[in-house]
Amino acid sequence: MAGIRALVAGNWKMYGVSDSLAMLDELASGLASGPTAACDVMLCPPSTLVAAAVARTKDTQVSVGGQDCHADVSGAHTGDISAEMLADAGAIAIIVGHSERRAEHGETDPQVRAKAEAAHRAGLTAIVCVGETEAERRAGQAVKVVSDQLDGSLPDAINAGNTVVAYEPVWAIGSGLTPTPEDVAEIHTVIRDNLIARYGDSGVDVRLLYGGSVKPANAVELMAVANVNGALVGGASLKAEDFLGIIAAFRS
Ligand code: PGA
Repeated sequence: MAGIRALVAGNWKMYGVSDSLAMLDELASGLASGPTAACDVMLCPPSTLVAAAVARTKDTQVSVGGQDCHADVSGAHTGDISAEMLADAGAIAIIVGHSERRAEHGETDPQVRAKAEAAHRAGLTAIVCVGETEAERRAGQAVKVVSDQLDGSLPDAINAGNTVVAYEPVWAIGSGLTPTPEDVAEIHTVIRDNLIARYGDSGVDVRLLYGGSVKPANAVELMAVANVNGALVGGASLKAEDFLGIIAAFRS
């Protein structure tokens, strides 16, 4: 929808050590030169790098998010981190419900919802991911799967400030495959309608990101789709040149 400021968020997944943060300098200087990017820019590095990434991007157009959190504030949960800890490190958002978490850690919709609520409790934006598998799409179930995930994974009170929804078809992640613009439009329209039905006016301007093999070569086409308000980018967020190539879709 016109008027929604886009977001291009990068998800480094389990990639990156201290030296990788040099990418942030390249990204920030790329953003500062040339035409203004009409989008917010965020990177979500592994938690070990969040505080350093926040320090490194101070006074730049780049913000920093985390990739997952525990639902509780604190507790005996060895290896986990809370939303409050990510907020303390300077993150402004947390990706929750990524399909890799759902598949590798068996995360369910109620657990994803609890994590989104934890992000809100800590004053952070929850980037809630949904998306169907290849088998589900082939079976004609994509709309139903995404709708069910939205129903189960989103908290009862969301708005454009505290929540972003990312549609990431599982089969498109890291595969080089992308849905057609028509297929993206269909799902994003379903998501927008779902949010408006459930949240009324608060659902109108929640940002809806597309994710799954977004790269410079397809960004313009995908970002032009109705109800697509930005991208969640995995592999192509690791190199400044690629990430800037995607952001270029929002520069004129
Ligand atoms: P990809 O990953 O861009 O490497 O396909 C996207 C994601 O998992 O967020």
